[in-house]
Amino acid sequence: MEKDNLIVAIDIGTSKITTIVGDIGEYNDLHIIGLGEVPSRGIEKGIVTKPQDAISAIRASINQAEDTAGFKIDHAVVNIGGPHLECQNEKEFSTFSIPQKEIEKEDIDALTQKVASKIGKENYEIIHILPKRFILDDENEVIDPVNLIGSKLEAEFHIVLDKINAYQNLKRVIEAANIKPIEFIANSIASSAAVLYPEEKDMGVIVLDIGGGTTDIAVYKEGSLEYTKSLPLGGKQVTMDIAHRFKISKEDAENIKKEHGIAVVEGLASNDIIEIYPRGSEESIQIEKYDLVDTIEARLSEIFEIVKSDLSKANLPKNLNAGIVITGGVANTLFIRELAESIFNIDVRIGKPKDFSGLSEKLFYPQYATSIGMLTFMKNNNLFSQNSNAFSVKKDSFNISETFKKLIDKIKEIF
Ligand SMILES: Nc1ncnc2c1ncn2[C@@H]1O[C@H](COP(=O)(O)OP(=O)(O)OP(=O)(O)O)[C@@H](O)[C@H]1O
Ligand SMILES: [Mg+2]
Repeated sequence: MEKDNLIVAIDIGTSKITTIVGDIGEYNDLHIIGLGEVPSRGIEKGIVTKPQDAISAIRASINQAEDTAGFKIDHAVVNIGGPHLECQNEKEFSTFSIPQKEIEKEDIDALTQKVASKIGKENYEIIHILPKRFILDDENEVIDPVNLIGSKLEAEFHIVLDKINAYQNLKRVIEAANIKPIEFIANSIASSAAVLYPEEKDMGVIVLDIGGGTTDIAVYKEGSLEYTKSLPLGGKQVTMDIAHRFKISKEDAENIKKEHGIAVVEGLASNDIIEIYPRGSEESIQIEKYDLVDTIEARLSEIFEIVKSDLSKANLPKNLNAGIVITGGVANTLFIRELAESIFNIDVRIGKPKDFSGLSEKLFYPQYATSIGMLTFMKNNNLFSQNSNAFSVKKDSFNISETFKKLIDKIKEIF
């Protein structure tokens, strides 16, 4: 096992903290060899609310991943989300005096630096500067200018910024859990990397990752990123609505939502009754399924309406012909696709992470789009090799068969 091929992602969500260890194979294939998951604590909607709880939850998730993978983790790629993120698109160019100048990677780096100093905003940290397209000599749009000859290189970038204090608080809890964050990736960008097909990006597509606390939006057109946003909306609100309406605990509400909830009332028999046994109570209570679904539909519709109005304010290109891809835990809600189609009037599909082999079937569910996507993003952008010493792997301290056995035992234990 070559340590250069290993990379770790930590998805710090409002509901769960997932750590996955990926092994990038000879043919650039992604194989997951370590997994840790604990309920989230001390972090909501990307904001640290209780540092000590956040640190111990992050550490617990990493410990599980270390046990399954069989080595110590000290670096990782980490997600970032929450309404404190902002995006903007910028253009920048460089001119070259050398005749027949061959464009090098350094020229692109210099252009990226130039745009970074231009957009540098006080109290903000730059999370991403992603080139959208390059134009050579004012006329030719090129995908990758390296090794081409030109005298002027222009680029458009999609930039994601985070409020410095929110960013620093997140970074500090990760460091306090003894992990060096080697890269931060916006939720929407990570999830898109896991669930989208290249043709969808070309045709124009909207990705919605609806998690417990945030709805992360990414819009692609002509193959590149146009818009990103992280709204403070998610499945936790649905759970709280159910808890309030039926006067039950959050835990009971979460359970009945997952067990009996669907997204549309239309077509439901009005007299179906659900019997539940609230935790700590001897007596059962009965609720009408129609009322449960009505509560879920109302909140999910509101989330979609807010997304719709955000998108219309963002003045996006028309004809996003690949429609909407919904992912994140809330995408598991039955009939959510139908509800979204009725509100947005475009095609909707459910996005699940793809293009990897996993050590657990459960990673193929939408709530793992962000964690898998972080590794896909690193792999697709050739970023993992630059961070290849991301592990303190003590190769002599274990052998493959021991590790494999440990992993199987651990998986049995966890799942
Ligand atoms: N089968 C299901 N039906 C309805 N809702 C579900 C189902 N499974 C998961 N959810 C909801 O998905 C949400 C969790 O999603 P996810 O794991 O993607 O969130 P997260 O990444 O921890 O949070 P965030 O990214 O918003 O900070 C919870 O609100 C949960 O109730
Ligand atoms: Mg999430």
